[in-house]
Order: sequence, then structure tokens, then C-alpha cells
Amino acid sequence: MAVLSWDIEKGSGSMTRPSWAPEGIDLDRPSASRVYDYFVGGMHNFEIDRTLARQIEAFTPNVAETMRANRDLLRRCVRFLVDAGITQFLDIGSGIPTVGNVHEVAQARNPSARVVYVDIDPVAVAHSRAILDGNPAAAVVNADIAAPDTILADPQVAKLLDFDKPVAVLLLGVLHFVPDDADPAAAVARLRDTVAPGSYLAITHATLDGQPTEVLEAQKLSGRTSTEIVLRTKPEIATFFDGWTLLDPGLVHLPLWRPDNPADVGDHPESSGAYGALAHKA
Ligand SMILES: C[S@@+](CC[C@H](N)C(=O)[O-])C[C@H]1O[C@@H](n2cnc3c(N)ncnc32)[C@H](O)[C@@H]1O
Repeated sequence: MAVLSWDIEKGSGSMTRPSWAPEGIDLDRPSASRVYDYFVGGMHNFEIDRTLARQIEAFTPNVAETMRANRDLLRRCVRFLVDAGITQFLDIGSGIPTVGNVHEVAQARNPSARVVYVDIDPVAVAHSRAILDGNPAAAVVNADIAAPDTILADPQVAKLLDFDKPVAVLLLGVLHFVPDDADPAAAVARLRDTVAPGSYLAITHATLDGQPTEVLEAQKLSGRTSTEIVLRTKPEIATFFDGWTLLDPGLVHLPLWRPDNPADVGDHPESSGAYGALAHKA
């Protein structure tokens, strides 16, 4: 595993660019992946990301808890999928890899598991590339989920994933960054029609359902990144699973999805502000 250094280089903008950040990124604009990295305790974020995160937190004090609940669901879900016999993962909107990433969880359980990460953010991609150096069973692609044909045609995807066999498609915390006019439902349907019977689809998605109205202020703040959040209702999120069969317990608040321990659910799982589900293609 390659380790990224923390040397500071002079950036072209008003901030300095650490050596782990690729050239050409906009240092004066926060990014969704780095704000998420901050919330889940990662170290690959800038002051501009932390400032936005703190402003969002002022409106939604439980936001870090929701994001950690999302990350916890990811790990439970990947363990479930490996135990169900899945050896191929397409993780779109994969983010900046932090400990307990998909390939770590999957390959710890089955060393032959193969993982392709996809993200729109060059920082997330650069990090993933460095972390995956020397891992022939995992790769990363810089692409937009709204362009699924670009993802499916990517040589790394073709090299590592066999779409004639079951694949787990992970869309965790990403579809709420895709506005309706970019037609996220069509992208999800394209993936559904590509994968073999026996495949799985996992989605987590932010919602306003049951949330205080202050969350709308936080949602507006997310527009300072290049990917503003779209909060969808439970029925709207459920439509992404058209053509799939939802597994128990269905589409639920994140802590309620197959908790390892009932104590992990807490007293108010609905305060997580996001839903998650796993579905199967017959
Ligand atoms: C909240 S993070 C989720 C990371 C990881 N999937 C998880 O659940 O822990 C969302 C990621 O989606 C990425 N993203 C946002 N819009 C995207 C798009 N249109 N296509 C691909 N990735 C996107 C962001 O760059 C960010 O890294």
C-alpha cells in the first residue's frame, strides 16, 4: 500500500496544495467527498471543507452521526454480500477511502473479491489510486454516475468485473448529489439492465422526512460544493429500486438496516436523516 506524504506544495489559488491533492483541483471550493471525510474522522480535507462542515453542523447537529451511520451500514452490507457469495463490487460515489473501505472489508472476508471504485471528485480518485497501488483486484475510475455508459465502458471496469456473473452495485450516499434533471433513475436502471441475475443493489440516500426544517438550510449550504444535495422522500428513493426485490428490512433509516447489535440502533434511529436498503435481482 502506498502512503501519501503530507508535504505542502504551493497551490495556484489562495490556499496551499498538499502533495496528496492532485494538481488542478479547485482549492477555493469545498468538495462533498472532503466534507464527508471530515465528518467521518478522516484527514483529507481542507479548512474550506471544515468550515462548511461546521456551518452544516450548526443547522443539523446530528449530521456527523448520520454520516458515521452510513459508513457503518456500508461495512455491514459488504459483509452480508460477501457471505451471500458476491465477489465483485462496483462502488459508485466511493469517496475518499478511509479505514474499513469496501475492498478492505470484502477482501478480508474473501481475498479474491474484486472492487472497482468510481467517483467524480479528483481528490477521492487520487487517494483511492494511491491506496490501491499494488492491489491487482481493485481499481478506481474518475466518472459521473449520471453517465453510466462511460463507467461500463471503462477498461478498468472491463478488466476486473464480469457482468455475466453477479455483481454488487453500491450507490451509498451518492444519488442525493444527482439532480432530477440529470436523470439518476435512468442511470440506476441502466446498471440494473447490465448486471446479471443474482446481482445486488445497495442505496443510501439523504431525506428531509421527519427532519427539522433547519436541515433545509444545511441543504442550501451544500450548494457551495459542485454537488448540491437533493433531499428525496422515502417513496421517491424507493423508485430507484424498480425492477429489484428489496431484502428485509426494506428501505429503512440507516441504523435499522440489519444492525449488528440492537443497542447500536439507539432511541431515535429516524434522526439519522437518511434511508438505506439492499435489493436483489431475480
Ligand atoms: C457522501 S460520500 C459517500 C462515500 C461512500 N460511498 C460512503 O458511503 O461512505 C459521496 C461521494 O459521492 C461522490 N459524488 C458526488 N456526485 C457524484 C456523481 N455524480 N458521480 C460520482 N460520484 C459522485 C462525491 O465526490 C463523494 O465522494
